[in-house]
Amino acid sequence: MSPFSALSAFPSPVFWWGALTVMMSSCTWAAPTDEGWRIMTDKSLGNCWACHGLPGQQGLISNLGPPLAGAGARLSLQQLTQWVVDARQMNAQTLMPPFGVSTGLQRVSTQQSLLTPDQIQQVVNTLASWR
Ligand code: HEC
Repeated sequence: MSPFSALSAFPSPVFWWGALTVMMSSCTWAAPTDEGWRIMTDKSLGNCWACHGLPGQQGLISNLGPPLAGAGARLSLQQLTQWVVDARQMNAQTLMPPFGVSTGLQRVSTQQSLLTPDQIQQVVNTLASWR
């Protein structure tokens, strides 16, 4: 047996390619990518992950606000809706912008709320499913 025979024990490039593919395919979102998720992660809509960690999120995770995993177990539908519509009702000093109203804001260029009632409903549905 030559001292080099051990080399043949190394897996082939085909093996590595296969292993890599399996590894990459496990790097997907664990969370469902539904409409609520899309709104929450869209920079021009909810952009919730600028402040919150979302379940299944990978990479850089903001901790300005609490992680939203388990939000559906901690908070009722009503509370979730209140947070998203106008977090100032829950904490007057909050950093979280009101997504459902545009009252009491300064220097906004539009009277429109950030999200429509329908979009808020989608976001709340997704939050409620995170238990
Ligand atoms: C600018 C930062 C910021 C953004 C953007 C933001 N939040 Fe928040 N949010 C906070 C902070 C900070 C809190 C902690 C409560 C407080 O304000 O004291 C919070 C609290 C919450 C809570 C209550 C969590 C708990 O466990 O009590 C929910 C639910 C929530 N946010 C949902 C959302 C959703 C959904 C979005 C996007 C549509 C969003 N937030 C966008 C900063 C933000």
